[in-house]
Amino acid sequence: MTDAALALDAFAQWYGRRAAGVWSAPGRVNLIGEHTDYNDGFVFPFGLDRRTQVALGDRDDRVIRVASAFAPEAVSLHLDELSPDAVSGWAAYPLGVVWALREFGADLSQVRGVDLHLTSDVPVGAGLSSSAALECAVALALNEHWGLGFDRPTLAKVGRLAENRVVGAPTGILDQSASLLAETDAGVFLDCRSLDAEVIPLRFAEEDLEVLVVDTHVEHAHATGGYAARRASCEQGARVLGVESLRDVHVDDLPRAAELLDDETFRRVRHVVTENQRVLDTVRTLRERGPSAIGTLLDASHVSMRDDFEISVPELDLAVETSQRHGAVGARMTGGGFGGSAIALVAKPLVPAVSEAVLTAFAERGFRAPTVFTVSPSQGARRDV
Ligand code: GLA
Repeated sequence: MTDAALALDAFAQWYGRRAAGVWSAPGRVNLIGEHTDYNDGFVFPFGLDRRTQVALGDRDDRVIRVASAFAPEAVSLHLDELSPDAVSGWAAYPLGVVWALREFGADLSQVRGVDLHLTSDVPVGAGLSSSAALECAVALALNEHWGLGFDRPTLAKVGRLAENRVVGAPTGILDQSASLLAETDAGVFLDCRSLDAEVIPLRFAEEDLEVLVVDTHVEHAHATGGYAARRASCEQGARVLGVESLRDVHVDDLPRAAELLDDETFRRVRHVVTENQRVLDTVRTLRERGPSAIGTLLDASHVSMRDDFEISVPELDLAVETSQRHGAVGARMTGGGFGGSAIALVAKPLVPAVSEAVLTAFAERGFRAPTVFTVSPSQGARRDV
C-alpha cells in the first residue's frame, strides 16, 4: 500500500468515512548553511524521502478535530477559539498552523471545520524537521481545501510562526522552506533575506553517491538553551558591527570584526559569515564540478560549527570523523545542533563499510547505538489524493 492509501485507510478507520483528500510534506536534510537562516543568509537543504501525510474530511460545524497515529486521543478546537496557547502537545502543531494562517490574513470566519488525521515516517527528534513536515502538510492542505490562495513562501512563514509560537523556539525559515519548495534529486538554494529560491540538481545518483544520515539519538531542544543563545550572539555581533544582520558582513570584513568583538562573539560571527560563503561556494562547485567536489566544503562547515559556533556534541563529531576516515566525500552535522543527526556524502559501494564503521566506533566509545540510513532528495509538499 502507498503511504497515501494508508493515510486514507487510517482516516476511514478513525472517522468512519472517506477523506476528501490526502496531502503530504517531507522532513529535510540541510546539506549546508547552518544558523544562517535567521541571519538573513543562505541555506541549501533538500527534502527527505520520509514524509508526513494529512488526510482531511469536511465537517458540518466549525470544529477542527485532529487525530494521529502517534497519540491515542483526538483533539478538537472550535475555529472561533483559535489561539497559540489553546492546546499543548503534538496537536498544537496542526492547530497552531490554523491559528497562524489566520494571523497571515486568512478569513476563516465562514469556513467549515475539518477532521484531520496525521501519519508520518519522519523520525522525531532526529534533527530532520519532523515538525516542519507536519506544519507544511497541514498548511498546504488547508490552503488548498479552503481556497486561501497563499503561495508557498508565505506558507513557509505560516509554518515558522506556528513553530515559533507553539514550540517557543526562535527558529528561522529553513525547515519550512525546504519542506515546501523541495524537488526530487535537487537542493533548494534559498536566500533567506529575499526568500528567492532556486532549485538546483544535486546529481548524487549520477555520480553514484549516497547521503548517509547518522541519527545520534542525542536529544536537542531548540526552545531552551543553546539555540536561542547563539541567535542572541549573532544579533549582538550585528549590532556592534553596525549592520542590519550578519548577511551584510563579508569574509573580507572579518579582520575588522575581530578588533571590535569579544573572542566568543567574533567566533559566532565568523561561523555565520564563512558559512554563507560556503553555501555560495557549494552551489557554484556543484554546478561547475559536480557533487563529488563539494566534500571539503561540508567538512569545513562541520569544523566551523564545532569550533567557532560550538553547537556540535561528541557523538556528532565521532559520526563525522569516522565517516571521513572511512572514505566519505564529506561529512557534517546537520540542523540546529546540540544533538540530532550528522550526514555523510558517500560513494555507493562504501555505504556498508562506512555505516559499519560508525556503529562500531559508537559502541567502542560507549555511546548509544545510532540509527544509520540513506536518504534521497525528494519532492516537497504536495497533494497525493
Ligand atoms: C533548526 C532551525 C532552523 C535553522 C537550523 C540551523 O533546524 O529550525 O531554522 O536555524 O536549526 O541551521
